[in-house]
Amino acid sequence: MMPVLDIQGLTVDFSTTEGIHYVLKNVDLNVNKGEIVGLIGESGSGKSTLAMTVLDINSRNRKRSGSIRFMNEELINAGTQRMRELRGRHIGFVPQSSMNALNPLVRVSKQFTETIKDHINMPAQQMLELTEKTLEMVAIDPSRVNSFPYEFSGGQRQRIMIALSMLLSPKLIIADEPTTALDATVQSKIIDLLKEVVEQKHTSMLVISHDLHTISRICDRIYIMYAGRIVETGSTEQIMHHSEHPYTQKLLASRLPLMSEHVKVKGISGKPPSTLMEYSRCEFLERCDRASVICKTKRPPECIDNVRVACHLGEGT
Ligand SMILES: Nc1ncnc2c1ncn2[C@@H]1O[C@H](COP(=O)(O)OP(=O)(O)OP(=O)(O)O)[C@@H](O)[C@H]1O
Ligand SMILES: [Mg+2]
Repeated sequence: MMPVLDIQGLTVDFSTTEGIHYVLKNVDLNVNKGEIVGLIGESGSGKSTLAMTVLDINSRNRKRSGSIRFMNEELINAGTQRMRELRGRHIGFVPQSSMNALNPLVRVSKQFTETIKDHINMPAQQMLELTEKTLEMVAIDPSRVNSFPYEFSGGQRQRIMIALSMLLSPKLIIADEPTTALDATVQSKIIDLLKEVVEQKHTSMLVISHDLHTISRICDRIYIMYAGRIVETGSTEQIMHHSEHPYTQKLLASRLPLMSEHVKVKGISGKPPSTLMEYSRCEFLERCDRASVICKTKRPPECIDNVRVACHLGEGT
């Protein structure tokens, strides 16, 4: 089966006055038709950079190499015009902190119809109908279509952004931290909504989060990212119940069970490495309590082809 999104060997760095930030390192990741794929990692691991590089909205000072195929089309050499066509029409995007991404001074109806106009010629009445129908899908009362964004709650605005991302039935939706900054009950509803959207719109989704526990229940497969690399990948079952990378295991242990009242992220001790350095050893070495001699001398394998775990543990077993 042809993947909807097929990223291979994606390497991204940014040159700044401080030096070069090495942000993504040889990343392989794919999303198949109808799948919901999770991309999980700590703050600063490179998740949003991956999303923005696919959409090509972070090109300033950026150097990238590798391959990004969307529906078999190579996006690395696609021009700005082609990327503009794809964004919003074929690839939907729910940006991080998106509940604040709507223009507060422009009515919701107008923000939706502008998006349609950017891509498709449609009579005004039909644009309104499509907008109302899409708002209904995310449980926003369509009679409020002419309200301003500030008249909605944060959770409602997040729903509106999800509606906007799926408005033109894209083949792929990239949702960057769609539930962060929402309280636990609303979070849970948004997660369910994402699954409904994928099923009803026959689309595929890459969903980004720092919280493995919250997102896992809707994911078919998961990629774990650490310091710009994929360190483990597998089915949700493999990741949640048979993880092998010490980082994944720490992520899993770093939070109380989902159902507990006061869900609190404990975090993992130690800090992720600086993006200003190129590492010849495993980036997780300093924080790993299972490291052995080989970790100090040899880089671990990379999550490419059939390698699921970027760790010396389990090699040769
Ligand atoms: N244009 C840029 N110039 C310099 N550094 C950048 C640039 N874009 C991203 N970075 C750096 O890349 C790293 C990864 O950032 P990114 O936003 O992708 O992380 P993230 O995983 O999405 O984190 P969070 O969970 O906090 O959203 C950070 O150290 C960030 O400062
Ligand atoms: Mg981010």
